[in-house]
Amino acid sequence: MGSDDTAPVLLIGGTGTVGTHVAAALSGRRRLLGLARSEASARRLEECGVEPVRGDLARPRTLDAAMVGVRQVYLATGREDQFELEWNAIEAAERAGVERIVKVSILYARESPVVYLRRAHRVVDARLERSPVASTVLEPATFMTHLEAQAELIAQGRICFPAPTARIAHVDPRDVAEVAAAVLAGDVALDGAHRVTGPESLTFAQVAERLGARVGHEVVAEAYRPERFRAWILDADLPEWLADGLVEIYADFERRGEMAVADTVERVLGRPPRSLDDYIAERLVPSVAGAVCG
Ligand SMILES: NC(=O)c1ccc[n+]([C@@H]2O[C@H](COP(=O)([O-])OP(=O)(O)OC[C@H]3O[C@@H](n4cnc5c(N)ncnc54)[C@H](OP(=O)(O)O)[C@@H]3O)[C@@H](O)[C@H]2O)c1
Repeated sequence: MGSDDTAPVLLIGGTGTVGTHVAAALSGRRRLLGLARSEASARRLEECGVEPVRGDLARPRTLDAAMVGVRQVYLATGREDQFELEWNAIEAAERAGVERIVKVSILYARESPVVYLRRAHRVVDARLERSPVASTVLEPATFMTHLEAQAELIAQGRICFPAPTARIAHVDPRDVAEVAAAVLAGDVALDGAHRVTGPESLTFAQVAERLGARVGHEVVAEAYRPERFRAWILDADLPEWLADGLVEIYADFERRGEMAVADTVERVLGRPPRSLDDYIAERLVPSVAGAVCG
């Protein structure tokens, strides 16, 4: 389906949570370039079989050389200045004659763009809609990796989020990556914005029950007050903008109640999304065991 299957795919965000899995899914299928703004990023890309090309989204003039001959771009950042960074990427792609950008956005970016973490996405997604470059915008629910960030708490028998009644369809970032890869490889034609969620919408009490059944001890969901959750995020050395953004997102989830499950993974990949139970067994149980030992 792609116009030139030998043209390289450029990964922007190829060292990220989703991007590393995009690289794995496309490995051996397409020539992969990865934008690297540092030696460390270049090394990480090489370890994943991606050819690093030097460039920094914050320095637009470095992007033209990185995009020579590129027809498809994967785009995910995840920084406070992601609006400027992603805007620069789109402008460079337009100059280079790129045919398609597959961008990682966020769930509800279209419905409630005033929420901080969604605002930059909405503006960039709208910019993509107006671009001559074709685009696929993936709007994922919260990644299951957020649960892994609480491995130490889980080892103590608790998960602590500020959304006691919200039902969230956590998604495995590998599913987001595999949908992106299927579009980049030309396996499917997918234009416009598409929600990407896990297979079921669960409260944190239900998540805790699933965890308890697999980690070998009881786990309860403790409803952190927003300021306590914010302090916990800052203690984990994450930046203030992200702490504030996550507090706001969980308050919005709480207001919304149940998150609808989307069928994008099934439509694109022909299989259901990975389940939370599988993620717990595969990823969380070892992380929680590591937290006990470490
Ligand atoms: N976490 C969630 O639950 C969730 C849910 C829905 C949507 N999202 C969205 O997902 C996106 C993030 O995806 P992710 O988690 O895969 O990313 P991530 O792990 O945060 O990684 C960010 C990537 O951006 C690259 N990057 C940052 N600044 C750059 C620059 N100036 N020039 C070139 N590259 C740069 C980083 O490269 P380096 O190697 O140089 O650092 C890294 O590869 C965000 O937009 C977020 O809103 C997240």
